[in-house]
Amino acid sequence: MESSSETDRGRSTSAADALMASSFPIVARHDISEVTFLLEFRHPLMARAARPGQFVIVMSHAEGERIPLTIADFDREQGTVTLVIQAVGKTTLEMQQDCQVGSTLYGVAGPLGIPTEIRDGGTVVCVGGGLGVAPVFPQARAFHEHGAKVIGILGFRTKDLVFWQDKFRSVCDELILCTDDGSAGIQGLVTDGLKMAIESHPKIDEVVAIGPPIMMRACAETTRPHSIRTSVSLNPIMVDGTGMCGGCRVRVGDQVKFACVDGPDFDGHRVDFDDLATRLRRYRHEEQEAVEHWHHTCHRAEKAAGETVVSALPATGARS
Ligand code: FAD
Ligand code: FES
Ligand code: MG
Repeated sequence: MESSSETDRGRSTSAADALMASSFPIVARHDISEVTFLLEFRHPLMARAARPGQFVIVMSHAEGERIPLTIADFDREQGTVTLVIQAVGKTTLEMQQDCQVGSTLYGVAGPLGIPTEIRDGGTVVCVGGGLGVAPVFPQARAFHEHGAKVIGILGFRTKDLVFWQDKFRSVCDELILCTDDGSAGIQGLVTDGLKMAIESHPKIDEVVAIGPPIMMRACAETTRPHSIRTSVSLNPIMVDGTGMCGGCRVRVGDQVKFACVDGPDFDGHRVDFDDLATRLRRYRHEEQEAVEHWHHTCHRAEKAAGETVVSALPATGARS
């Protein structure tokens, strides 16, 4: 007969197995720079459903914060989805430390948001600034697959931060690389590359710009005098990602929109970027406190591990 402790052990093992089965294994990780890293995780359904321009909401562990991240790539045959993440605060720093090949993402919701509208043919400029280079890739590839002439413009601070040049070359008819310090490509901002593209191509049908709000705004101002349709991908604070909480409210023209369900792509000539910047700064104080607390807790945990005083670790302290 099975002892009760064996039964309990059996139950907890199958509960853990069930939990693991609903979490998503990380199958590749690549550190692009000291602050930017790529994660590829297995999720065949998500890979099949994903479309360019969409995002996911990720919880890296059971007590973690939900954060939105753009689907930077997906491979339907392999059943994998790629994220490129910049470690800027508590949750992304924690993911940079903990999300390694062999570990899992606890929860992933999506694909969310309206996919980018991909029209057939024409000339399309895809602009990515810094981290924005990753999310603009699926668009560039989709425009290429729909017969467009694709001009890629990628901007980085310096040569060491450049990534995915080869991926873009494979889907772009022309590629303009820009660095702030001139260490690779032309010296200048993506708006300098955009001006070059506008000068050399009299008929551009659409510009897609993804990056920091200040960069997207500058791209929209560059195309405005030429009346070139310009789409930007907005990144307001999101919580549920389903239109329920109102956290991601943005102003577009005279309308209020929710970026998670009405976007994240919007007409860059109509977006109120000042309002977006104000809303993004809203929780700075709390975010600063969270990261300081996390650093402090990590430091304590490392010290405790060094002294092999494992019991000094709080049950969930390293996660709070
Ligand atoms: P915190 O210290 O909490 O915040 C740092 C800054 O990040 C804040 O000042 C705020 O501007 C922003 N932020 C914080 N919480 C949220 C939130 N819940 N939702 C949105 N922004 C937040 N980042 C990437 O690195 N890669 C991506 O592919 C990517 N895609 C995004 C797609 C969308 C649709 C949106 C809305 C945001 C995206 N972001 C992406 C931003 C990313 O969600 C934030 O950097 C992340 O939530 C920061 O969390 P944190 O705890 O590490 O930092
Ligand atoms: Fe809650 Fe958009 S994230 S409404
Ligand atoms: Mg946070």
